[in-house]
Amino acid sequence: MKIFITGGTSGIGWALTEYYLNRGHQVGICGRDLKKLPEVSKFFLGKGLTCFEVDVTDRVALMGVIKDFAKGKLDLLIANAGISQGDKSSYPKFSSAREILKINLDGFLNTFEAGFNIMEKEGGHLVAISSVAGLVGLPGAAAYCGSKSAVLKICESYSIDFKKFGIDVTTIAPGFVDTPLTRKNKHPMPFLMDPKKAAIKISKAIDKKKSLYIFPLRMKFLMILLEKMPRSLYRYLMSFSRFAYPSHYEKGNNQ
Ligand SMILES: NC(=O)c1ccc[n+]([C@@H]2O[C@H](COP(=O)([O-])OP(=O)(O)OC[C@H]3O[C@@H](n4cnc5c(N)ncnc54)[C@H](OP(=O)(O)O)[C@@H]3O)[C@@H](O)[C@H]2O)c1
Repeated sequence: MKIFITGGTSGIGWALTEYYLNRGHQVGICGRDLKKLPEVSKFFLGKGLTCFEVDVTDRVALMGVIKDFAKGKLDLLIANAGISQGDKSSYPKFSSAREILKINLDGFLNTFEAGFNIMEKEGGHLVAISSVAGLVGLPGAAAYCGSKSAVLKICESYSIDFKKFGIDVTTIAPGFVDTPLTRKNKHPMPFLMDPKKAAIKISKAIDKKKSLYIFPLRMKFLMILLEKMPRSLYRYLMSFSRFAYPSHYEKGNNQ
């Protein structure tokens, strides 16, 4: 298969890249800084791996890179690139919120647009890495939850709309995975997973062409419980101090 993964230089993206390379697939990846690539990536250069330094928010550049890699045929495209705020706070930081939405939402749309343009005639499979955080509005993580929730809903619509083009759409909503993104977190991370194990689970869901895959199971139950409960009860539970983040931004420094 010919596969392109955005944000393939680190964490879940690299684990997926390695998984597919080890099974003989041709994989193109991108990130803003290729120096982030692990040492082992050198082994795969010229043996199925192609790397591009591009920002997913640069629509034209991203489309050029994916088109260049695909050369008219792309089987699988995984919109994985994303960021979260490392310094969660109950005091809003609007500049960081805009940056999160730009990468996690605009970047995802740019990626799907590039994939759709290539797959429109011959079909293919578009995958988005959302998050269990997209199921609810978690305190201190408004923009991250909002971006991942938008990805979930957009993909639900696309999974219906794109059927007639022969394009499958899968949304993946992982719980906590041990990557540079989560290593910044100071709060507890229940059911934390190894990225290689997460990549296996994600690839199985992709093989089965699931429209939505939430994992691990215990996190799925917990988050669905939080999603379905009366919102007044949810807000009450989340207002307990153990869920609250420090309001450590100085007032007037929230742009
Ligand atoms: N780890 C978790 O627990 C978890 C849980 C649920 C969902 N997710 C989602 O899974 C995805 C991967 O996260 P991760 O945990 O593997 O994080 P990570 O290790 O920090 O990897 C993120 C990847 O995205 C790339 N990236 C970030 N911004 C980019 C941009 N503007 N343009 C191009 N590439 C960009 C990064 O490379 P550069 O910085 O060099 O560009 C890196 O390759 C994210 O969408 C994240 O929200 C993660």
